[in-house]
Amino acid sequence: MGRITILSPKEIQAMRQACRIAADTLVMIGPHIRAGISTEEINTLVHEYTLAQDAIPAPLNYKGFPKSVCTSVNEVVCHGIPGPRVLQDGDIVNIDVTPIYPRRNGFHGDSSVTYYVGEPSPLARHVVEVAREALEIGIQQVRPGGFIGDIGAAIQAFAEAKGCSVVREYTGHGIGRIFHSEPSVPHYGLRGQGMRMRKGMAFTIEPMINLGRFEIDHLDDGWTVLTRDRSLSAQFEHTIVVTDEGCEVLTRRPARVVNSEDKPYARLGPLACWQPGS
Ligand code: MF3
Ligand code: CO
Ligand code: CO
Repeated sequence: MGRITILSPKEIQAMRQACRIAADTLVMIGPHIRAGISTEEINTLVHEYTLAQDAIPAPLNYKGFPKSVCTSVNEVVCHGIPGPRVLQDGDIVNIDVTPIYPRRNGFHGDSSVTYYVGEPSPLARHVVEVAREALEIGIQQVRPGGFIGDIGAAIQAFAEAKGCSVVREYTGHGIGRIFHSEPSVPHYGLRGQGMRMRKGMAFTIEPMINLGRFEIDHLDDGWTVLTRDRSLSAQFEHTIVVTDEGCEVLTRRPARVVNSEDKPYARLGPLACWQPGS
């Protein structure tokens, strides 16, 4: 974690370009999320698409991470390594992309979506939709003069009221020319704690929401994080910058993604917590 940086308007414009590529990548991958695709194939699609946008996938070789994207299936919380695992109907999979643009000395756009493979179970749908709304509730807290702690407090209150839990060990982070910098943005905690937000600060909000308890385990591959109780976990991530009015969500997608947000929310059933216009 380096020191925090306040981005100039010119730097924010460059961040918009990097973040647009991240958003476009998540839209691009949606139709590919079907039973039978392997996470390795997802990695290849993301890798080649990123290069075709004249960007570089930041995860590749980052602290030794061996692939260009994180693919986290079911009980995997984050940092899943693409490989031979084949997605099956009923799985949920988070895809976390981070293009660097321009290629040299460029800016990072960091964003993720949890997708449905086929039809989810009611509990899978619950944890995914709680994670989706938790991110939006966190974003609503962002304003100059507010506290970083306000974000996590709002997310935690919401997620726990929905019977879910919030992962503690991994947080949002400052972002810019550096992938992970200060501030650390916890997704739990207390209002009024932590750093004050300032115009031009760029950071991610990326709540990891578990259906069961919040504790995690690590696999001995050095990366994969999974729920200790092996319950399902879901995550969504946006990169934002603080503005005079509140914030600009730099990784907003130009279209709904297939196999996640295009679900007809009205049909979600009793566990749903998000309705259009609510
Ligand atoms: N994109 C992840 C994040 O949101 C970080 C992945 S690091 C990697 O911070 F090395 F696993 F790719
Ligand atoms: Co991130
Ligand atoms: Co990410």
